[in-house]
Amino acid sequence: MSLEQKIGQLVQVEGAYGSLPDHLREAVVCGAVGSIINEVDPATLNELQRIAREESPHGIPLLIGRDVIHGFHTVFPIPLGMAASWNDTLVEQAARLSAWEAAQQGVNWTFSPMLDVSRDPRWGRIAESFGEDPLLTARLGAAMVRGYQNDTEHPLVSCLKHFVGYGACEAGKDYNTTNLPEIELRNVYLPPFEAAVRAGALTVMPSFSDLNGMPPSGNAWLLRDVLRGEWQFDGLVVSDWASISQLVVHGVAENEANAAAQAARAGVNMDMVSGAYAAHLAQLVEAGALNEQLVDELVLEVLRVKFAAGLFDAPVRVYHMATQTPAALALAQEVAEQSIVLLKNNDVLPLAIEGRVCLLGPLADQPYEQLGTWVFDGDVARSVTIREAFAATFGGRLSYDPVLETSRDRSQAGFDAAATLAWQSDVVVLALGEEAILSGEAHCRSDIQLPGAQSALVEHIAALGKPVIVAILAGRPLAISEVVERADALLYAWHPGSMAGTALLNVITGGVDASGRLPVTLPRRVGQVPIYYAHGHTGKPATPETVIHIDDIDPKAPQTSIGNTSFHLDVDPSPLFPFGFGLSYTTFEFHNLREEAVADDEAVAMAVDVINSGARAGVTVAQLYVRDLVASATRPVRELKAYERLTLEAGERRTLRFSISRDALSFHNGRAKVFEPGRFRIWVGEHAACGLSAEVLVE
Ligand code: BGC
Repeated sequence: MSLEQKIGQLVQVEGAYGSLPDHLREAVVCGAVGSIINEVDPATLNELQRIAREESPHGIPLLIGRDVIHGFHTVFPIPLGMAASWNDTLVEQAARLSAWEAAQQGVNWTFSPMLDVSRDPRWGRIAESFGEDPLLTARLGAAMVRGYQNDTEHPLVSCLKHFVGYGACEAGKDYNTTNLPEIELRNVYLPPFEAAVRAGALTVMPSFSDLNGMPPSGNAWLLRDVLRGEWQFDGLVVSDWASISQLVVHGVAENEANAAAQAARAGVNMDMVSGAYAAHLAQLVEAGALNEQLVDELVLEVLRVKFAAGLFDAPVRVYHMATQTPAALALAQEVAEQSIVLLKNNDVLPLAIEGRVCLLGPLADQPYEQLGTWVFDGDVARSVTIREAFAATFGGRLSYDPVLETSRDRSQAGFDAAATLAWQSDVVVLALGEEAILSGEAHCRSDIQLPGAQSALVEHIAALGKPVIVAILAGRPLAISEVVERADALLYAWHPGSMAGTALLNVITGGVDASGRLPVTLPRRVGQVPIYYAHGHTGKPATPETVIHIDDIDPKAPQTSIGNTSFHLDVDPSPLFPFGFGLSYTTFEFHNLREEAVADDEAVAMAVDVINSGARAGVTVAQLYVRDLVASATRPVRELKAYERLTLEAGERRTLRFSISRDALSFHNGRAKVFEPGRFRIWVGEHAACGLSAEVLVE
């Protein structure tokens, strides 16, 4: 291959959305392009691949990239919602189905899963994450990688993003600077990526935000030393959208040519649309500023991925519009049902289907908004809205009024009419939250309450005294203390995707148990952010005796530092709901937490008895948390180390055994990854603040 043809393999350009303009045809014919992003038209893709194979100088097929983030035509819940299922198998199946749909049309590469540990609900991209916990993110990320890549007939190459620390952007403001000490990077932010690399992920995308002063697209330590050196990753690194040329805007490269050289040296194999590689790499090599051997290495890694993706396999694949199947919708419904978190229930749920229901709210009948962010190919016609699903079940006993035009609508003009409608019903269901566009990339908020007049609507309707059920559809955790207080039942549904309506109806009426569990801590107020369960030890932890409210401080109280602890004066120090929390329609008890004999590869093994103590079958997620009681660095107050979703019949008892490896108890203390024997406290229960615990001595 000529130098130009080699560089072509490192260049990704934008498709023309269903057409094939001459410049694109030419570029593929002369081998100047290795990948195309954002083309999903099967006829165009058949032709593009034919040209690449038959008319380009080397016959190398193209990688066709698309953001298939939580479904293709069939839309699953946003990733944050999928995370609430705590169901690795189901998440893997969802990814496999997304791959099956997308690959039929000729897409062979998705920019998913996003593995950014996300602890700031202001950040719009928390919607695309699996939440705040490294273990949950790692397990679900690995599941998605398997789901996308492991179907030999319809594989999608997966891409781990955004490497790394993007979720920690300051002030929860997208693209903002990120500062993470290496100890934090290695203990919290890197592990999900490492797990997904081990699961076989073929590509990785560096993040937009700079990390400790260096944008990852130019960061050789990250992309070479850690990713390729420590983890033996041998796939390809693709820049984020134009992030190579943005090295100039960041102020770490003098001009675009320098930016291209810096990214190539750092190990970025492919330039997503910035044009910097196409414009400068050849000249840099010819001028002796860049070694051609480096280009060869970058190209080989691209080709390795193309081979692994089956692009060279015979027979040649012929693409067509994706088949739509009822099974796809059934799976979308199942994932949505398992992602819905029941946060409060004053015995109004499950709802009997005999009565009259009044459905209110701006998100009750919005086929597009319920899909959430990143749904380029989502088929809105496939959406079943809440109104549609309720109408099918309750028929003439359902009344409906959106009251507000959008979630941001501030007008209270429709409140009285809504109250009249509510008054004529036995129960009111309010579908509230955020429209899809209020979260996702670049859509961050400084206020995380319900937008518009929605909270006022809850107050107005709750004053009637009818049972009020609130369903929140949103791309982020919202601060909803007052709404929770006023509602008789509250379900957090995230953006549930195509089958939002059917799934919510089924959970609300008890067709399935409420089984979602929070993948993020819910704050009471935005001022508590970042609030996450695995925070470090302070030397002065808050205790009930030391917390004082601002209104209770005596006038002219003297300053003292004696007895002070860590809390805000104006908010309860606990979260509104802890990580891992969610109610079922039955109750579970955990008893008899005990140590078991360990096998050679285990550091500690715990057994616990779980009993369904309620009157119906149900689902719980048993969660095991650990605290390292004495260590060479402060450790989180609790860390999730294992979880298991299980279904038990009424009265059924099951013994669970959790195995914890030495690696799971090891951590980076600033110098190395260390395993420090000693005392650990272990909790097992249904959320991060659960009480059943035992102390163990690990040798
Ligand atoms: C986003 C990526 C995405 C890419 C391609 C960027 O703006 O940060 O997550 O994969 O665009 O659409």
